[in-house]
Amino acid sequence: MTQVAQPRPANKRAQISAPTFRTDNWRLSPILTVLGLAGFVGYATFRSFQQDHYWVELYHYLTPFYSPCLSATCEPGSAVFGTLPWAFPWFMPFAAATLPFLLLFRLTCYYYRKAYYRAIWQAPTACAVREPHRSYSGETRFPLLGQNLHRYFFWIAGAIAVLNTYDALVALFHGHNGGFGIGLGNLILLANVVLLWCYTLSCHSCRHAFGGRLRSFSRHPVRYWMWTQISRLNTRHMQFAWITLGSLVLTDLYVALLSSGVITDLRFFN
Ligand code: FES
Repeated sequence: MTQVAQPRPANKRAQISAPTFRTDNWRLSPILTVLGLAGFVGYATFRSFQQDHYWVELYHYLTPFYSPCLSATCEPGSAVFGTLPWAFPWFMPFAAATLPFLLLFRLTCYYYRKAYYRAIWQAPTACAVREPHRSYSGETRFPLLGQNLHRYFFWIAGAIAVLNTYDALVALFHGHNGGFGIGLGNLILLANVVLLWCYTLSCHSCRHAFGGRLRSFSRHPVRYWMWTQISRLNTRHMQFAWITLGSLVLTDLYVALLSSGVITDLRFFN
């Protein structure tokens, strides 16, 4: 006999009598999500607290996980904006001014919310799958009410993307002889910042900031044009969310391997 969902009372989840109506491999997506997020969080946590192998002085490569480097013990040249007067303890990342905001930006991102609500919190587990929670308050109460702060984290993340861009551009002018030069590290740093911009500008809050709350697009052609371009990027936001996790790890790993002397930079010019 065909199973049907019963009408739900207010504030209650749909009462589904069967564990699921799905016949496809619906578990695969949440499992991959958990593995991907756990892998990134594990790697990023280890690297952020390692306090080593973050800087290649010869080519001015600084990993994004340590930008800006603020501890008095930052390696000479790595702190482009200067350091604070004290050495950070082992439990404090050298980029303590930016990492918490980047974490909050990603944590409150509309796409990541969907991913971890489903894969980790199981609310909802998946479409047409019975979930373990008896009631649902959405994002109307603490702590999930805090997800609304995403619109402010967007602006901070934008400022940090400017910093990362500066790091990548400055490195272009530190070739072998102190002049302009391009190596594989430069290309990786540049590709990473381009992808970070794609992720940041494709943010739903960005789309609203530039094109929202307008009564008439025809009176605001510049904002309309920006909204159109951002909307195009926005359709790929999920892809950028995952690609940038990979590009951040790749960039950091390349700098770490160079810095520790495991590999040498492939130079194309100077
Ligand atoms: Fe994903 Fe804003 S919605 S970063």
